[in-house]
Amino acid sequence: MPSPTPMQPSVQGRKVLLIVSGGIAAYKAAYVGRSLALLGADVRVVMTRSATKFIGAQTFAGLTGNPVSTELFGGGPDVPHVELARGAELAIVAPATANLLAKMSAGIADDIASATLLTVRCPVLVAPAMHTEMWENPATRSNIETLVGRGVYVAGPTAGALSSGDEGQGRMVEPGEIVSEALGILGRSQELAGVRVLVTAGGTHEPIDPVRFIGNRSSGRMGVTIAAEAAGRGAKVTLVAGALSVPVPGGIEVIHAPTADEMRSAVVARSTESDVIVKAAAVADFKPEVVASSKIKKSSGPPEIRLVPTPDILRELGTDGSIRKAGSILVGFAAETEADPRGLAAYAQEKLTLKGADIIVANDVASSDSGFGVETNRAVIATAGGVRELGLVSKRDLARGLVDEIIRQRGSTPH
Ligand code: CTP
Repeated sequence: MPSPTPMQPSVQGRKVLLIVSGGIAAYKAAYVGRSLALLGADVRVVMTRSATKFIGAQTFAGLTGNPVSTELFGGGPDVPHVELARGAELAIVAPATANLLAKMSAGIADDIASATLLTVRCPVLVAPAMHTEMWENPATRSNIETLVGRGVYVAGPTAGALSSGDEGQGRMVEPGEIVSEALGILGRSQELAGVRVLVTAGGTHEPIDPVRFIGNRSSGRMGVTIAAEAAGRGAKVTLVAGALSVPVPGGIEVIHAPTADEMRSAVVARSTESDVIVKAAAVADFKPEVVASSKIKKSSGPPEIRLVPTPDILRELGTDGSIRKAGSILVGFAAETEADPRGLAAYAQEKLTLKGADIIVANDVASSDSGFGVETNRAVIATAGGVRELGLVSKRDLARGLVDEIIRQRGSTPH
């Protein structure tokens, strides 16, 4: 079991919820609760009814020194799940059964565990545990994908011995691993406290007529993942959203800006108060010069649509210092369709100077494993100090690496 080391951040007094659902691994959750309590965290345990069939509430009460919640309705005037969720700094679900993951994904709140998880605003870490068939079921796969997209951290599962003497993928990771993951999340969760981060995400839709537009394939996933990562580190995040096809996690303010012009207005209105601006949106570079006031009819023949440039928001922010807060950090993206990674690096450096940004993330949007609509990105991060090749990374890891770079730059910039 882990013990505090000089490298670990202090978790003294930090409020951690440990949500235990019904699986054979429930006994291991006792080690998680005990370790965090020994490290000084204020651990509150919530158990599903099935969890109580595997391990007694009294065990957790004794290990954490706090009462354990097992019922949604306490009989009194209090609303236990709201009281538990408010002020929580991390919620750990261990073990996370397929059933509880499905409820989390669907937003079901029919017991104390699921209701608390629907109410929390803090980072959530799940440690799935189930039989291999359940883990591999497309329903579970899709639920996990949804949760990851919302910023939930997932630890495991691993392969090994399961209940009933079975072997395979689906075994909960060891308590020590859950605790170190939890300590990492808690440590990072204060890094951007009090910092205002503005993120743009998704593609813009430039209208042609009342029913048609010029758009692009951006899902908004990269920008939403960055917004979630910054929020997870304690930032106050505003998301200026074009067209999104992924959900936005709670706790992030969302402003809809469907066109490049609307996005510019929304960004400029908030740019002087933002400490960090991340322009992850796929903004159209051109828009129709004239928007037809009624639907263009086929009978009129193929229309000629003249395009005019949209405002380059990133360049404006990068080159006109008066519209940004002094010492703020500006991040731009560059969408590249070249597969050659050297091309990506050169392109990123060029954009850094051209747009006046502090950081440019260049990503390949033309491969089947990178760019629009997929979970991974082939990317480089360019700064004045040089270019860092990330290779093929998940959008979550790219977001994490980018936020790390932002924090590094804030550390060396007066603000
Ligand atoms: N951007 C912007 N306003 C625009 C167009 C783009 O703020 N009107 C921002 C995007 O949000 C992104 C970066 O600029 O951060 C992308 O720059 P862009 O010049 O469009 O580069 P690419 O998409 O890489 O394309 P191209 O090389 O064709 O310029």
